[in-house]
Amino acid sequence: MMIAVSKKIQTIGVLTSGGDAPGMNAAVRAVTRSAIQQGIRVLGIRRGYMGLMTGDLFEMNLRSVSDIIGRGGTVLFSARCPEFQQPEGQRKALEICRSAGIDGLVTIGGDGTFRGASALSALGLPCIGIPGTIDNDIAASDYTIGFDTAANTAVEMIDRIRDTSASHDRCTVVEVMGRHAGHLALHAGLAAGAISILVPEIPFDVDRDVVARMLDSLKKGKQHFIVLVAEGVGHAPDLARYIGEKTGIVTRATVLGHVQRGGAPSARDRIVASQMGSHAVKLLCQGIGDRVVVYKKDQIMDYSIEEALAMHKSIDLELYALAQEISV
Ligand code: ADP
Ligand code: F6P
Repeated sequence: MMIAVSKKIQTIGVLTSGGDAPGMNAAVRAVTRSAIQQGIRVLGIRRGYMGLMTGDLFEMNLRSVSDIIGRGGTVLFSARCPEFQQPEGQRKALEICRSAGIDGLVTIGGDGTFRGASALSALGLPCIGIPGTIDNDIAASDYTIGFDTAANTAVEMIDRIRDTSASHDRCTVVEVMGRHAGHLALHAGLAAGAISILVPEIPFDVDRDVVARMLDSLKKGKQHFIVLVAEGVGHAPDLARYIGEKTGIVTRATVLGHVQRGGAPSARDRIVASQMGSHAVKLLCQGIGDRVVVYKKDQIMDYSIEEALAMHKSIDLELYALAQEISV
């Protein structure tokens, strides 16, 4: 569904919601400045839908977003707000928007955030979603803001683990984030030279895909190992214990955790965020709502939120095969 409004947009609200991601600030900056350049007033909303329900809004100007393009986290703060999932919560948020004069909303987050945007659009408030999550799990988009930075952070951490693992002829099982998706694990695992990468999307057998690969590589002279496991597979400490018993190689586990969500965004994340923020404002200026901005085949495009949420994203099997082939 494409919601088109006839009246010119006068005030845009912008919020960040769900898990924060490096580059969200660059998106907020792009939305704010693109809108102001079009003569549109911008209101920042703190803590996602929570702030929308409680009226935690403030007027933004060109300088409100100075010096944030390179900052991690989100200056608008983020939150998960179960109350907003109820019709009552959505009505409350709509009333706040009406009384603040917000006639278009940009929501930066993941698929939960887009469901909220879709609900508000259905109530008559045009909303645009921008994918911001380190998980890269938005099916409609090849890329989500924060993924590149998180993958680079994970690789940097794994390189450090590799130093100590190599010094002791050990194996380390490293667990990375990704919720139910294995994209972060696959990219970090390939870039960090992991012997095995376990992701929820691809069935695996630990004896065949980890233990046997390690023993084979051991025979070929390899002395230390990194095994990458996605959070969606989990159980890194149990896996480390099992691998240690089966291979006789001392094995440790490290769960990288929230370190992957912080830090200055990479150039890629800043650029994509800037493009997506500007595109979101263009859509609202054309009177278009209920869309999600996506990055598809190196182009910035948009889909209806409903269509985007119905899509399925598979993992890159070629990358997976490549990692298996060259990590020996
Ligand atoms: P993400 O946006 O990263 O997927 P969440 O799934 O936590 O993160 O969703 C963020 C917020 O979006 C939730 O806290 C809630 O306020 C809102 N939300 C999630 N699902 C829905 C839904 N089905 N309807 C309305 N709002 C939703
Ligand atoms: O969606 C981003 C993400 O970091 C996931 O990778 C992870 O599963 C989840 O958020 C962690 O959420 P929280 O910050 O609430 O622990």
